[in-house]
Amino acid sequence: MSSKAAKKKTRAPKASKKPVKQPAKTEKGKAYATLVAELRSLLKGEYDFIANTANFSALVYNSLPDVNWAGFYFLKDEELVLGPFQGKPACVRIPFGKGVCGFAAKQCETVIVPNVHEFPGHIACDVASNSEIVIPLFDGERVLGVFDVDSPTLKRFDDQDAEGLNELVTVLVAHEERLDE
Ligand code: SME
Repeated sequence: MSSKAAKKKTRAPKASKKPVKQPAKTEKGKAYATLVAELRSLLKGEYDFIANTANFSALVYNSLPDVNWAGFYFLKDEELVLGPFQGKPACVRIPFGKGVCGFAAKQCETVIVPNVHEFPGHIACDVASNSEIVIPLFDGERVLGVFDVDSPTLKRFDDQDAEGLNELVTVLVAHEERLDE
């Protein structure tokens, strides 16, 4: 390198000493952060999928206020089949694309339903349910199933629930795939 070129060498911009302001966590955000920590400790060293998904459902069901059902459906041959859950007994098989669960699995996206009675094709497992959130579980691009939470309260779930629950299922799947070792 010529001395001219060497002189021209640009310096990396100095790191700003100002702390980067992070948005303050809301109470709900803090509660989900605590749940994530609790989930990590529940999963630690255990790789049995049924045991871990059962404990995951119990953790969410017993920690989130105002929910009457929380559990998994797993995709098997174009159907969602009931997995570990907490709450009243539920329908065992949901065709892919049907109900809120099937819709979320087909669209590969989180679905928040403020009023289940207004969702076309909603499948009522517990008559007490009035709102619902469904989070798809992914193995890369492939949908493995969904995690479904119901509430007796209309408009119970918001974007913070979607964010928090997505973080929880991401931690679960990463653990099962041993990506967190
Ligand atoms: N409501 C769901 C069915 C599952 S239960 O809520 C547990 C649906 O419409 O897919």
